[in-house]
Amino acid sequence: QNPKISPTPPMGFNNWARFMCNLNETLFTQTADAMLSHGLLAAGYNNINLDDCWSLKERNAEGQLEWDTSLFPHGLPWLGDYLHTRGFNFGIYTNSGNITCGLYPGSQDHEELDAKTFEKWGVDYLKVDGCHLDLQHGRTYYEEFRYRYELWHDVLTTKLKTPFIFSQSAPAYFSPNFHLDQNNTDWYRTMEYVRNNGELARHSDDIKVYGDNPTNTFEPGGHWESMMNNYGMQVRLSRFQSCGFFNDPDFLIVDWPDLSMDEKRTHFALWSSFSAPLILSAWIPDLTKEDVEYLTNKDIIAVDQDALCEQATLVSQNDFFDVLTKNLANGDRLVTVLNRGDDANATSVPIERLGLHPKGAYKAKDLWTGKTTSVKNKAIHVKLRSRQTAIYRLSSDAKLKATPTGQIFNTFS
Ligand code: GLA
Repeated sequence: QNPKISPTPPMGFNNWARFMCNLNETLFTQTADAMLSHGLLAAGYNNINLDDCWSLKERNAEGQLEWDTSLFPHGLPWLGDYLHTRGFNFGIYTNSGNITCGLYPGSQDHEELDAKTFEKWGVDYLKVDGCHLDLQHGRTYYEEFRYRYELWHDVLTTKLKTPFIFSQSAPAYFSPNFHLDQNNTDWYRTMEYVRNNGELARHSDDIKVYGDNPTNTFEPGGHWESMMNNYGMQVRLSRFQSCGFFNDPDFLIVDWPDLSMDEKRTHFALWSSFSAPLILSAWIPDLTKEDVEYLTNKDIIAVDQDALCEQATLVSQNDFFDVLTKNLANGDRLVTVLNRGDDANATSVPIERLGLHPKGAYKAKDLWTGKTTSVKNKAIHVKLRSRQTAIYRLSSDAKLKATPTGQIFNTFS
């Protein structure tokens, strides 16, 4: 990993969770136009990424991948130009095995050729997925994945004029929920090497898209649970993150009718507390004013993009509340409180629980309202609706004597 490629977590758009294989040129041009007019580009969402199913089902006579001209009549280099002229990076998808998850040609044994083809088309950002890997030379799954993702790293950093932002999916295939995890340690072992290869890595299941039925009919429900599942996985991985490499808990799903505004804002606040990639998968032209407003909250985006790149860690949990904290580059401290419960509830978080000296005088800025208040009685008091999240920036006149967040991880109450 090279901290210069993406010093802070990437932000942008990907079509997958919202549209799956229903993609075409106008989806991306209209998304780009709407990202501009809604102020999302100005807020930092500057990558527009195509996911699976953009190519023809066969490589051409030279062995190269080709875009499907019925979906992209002007061609991908044209689309790349369209995006670049408007200030976006152009992202594309391939797969480390020889068939993609959506059953299109994959890149196994074509890594260099495909990277150069993408470069010719103007690509800046590449997601490499992990479906259908052929095990070669007697390698285990762990070894084959490792070999392929390290090969991609070599190709992207030595064969191109400018390396792409490299989004890896390897760890997701070894997560405790997935069958490739043969001995229950491969997930963490995979996390160990991907951080040396690229800028981000998916580590858990797909954020729920359509129902798991073959007709892809929209099945309502399950989105909150899927978000909480990936949140729970991410919490276990904070030690792997550092500037230039980000744990990726998957997309922000912004326009699902079964998610309440509290749930969507919680999603955004938690991902930002993690300094996770903020990749929207939604129909951007129709986002409501309310959606755009929370997605462009400057104070919360600043937490996501904070120069320390820390992932907030869980310092307290009970049946209802999760409390997360992290240090921020200017010496402030982030405090995020999630009410996971089904009812409105109140709690107090003693500042000692956050590793702060109880004698200090602190101010708390509520990042949703922008209001700053003094911290009274050595604790933060919050009252939250079900599935609502509070997010504060704590500051003190004296320099905060912060305990490194990693060290207070085990102090659950
Ligand atoms: C996998 C990935 C998804 C998406 C699909 C495409 O499921 O995890 O993010 O890329 O493949 O087929």
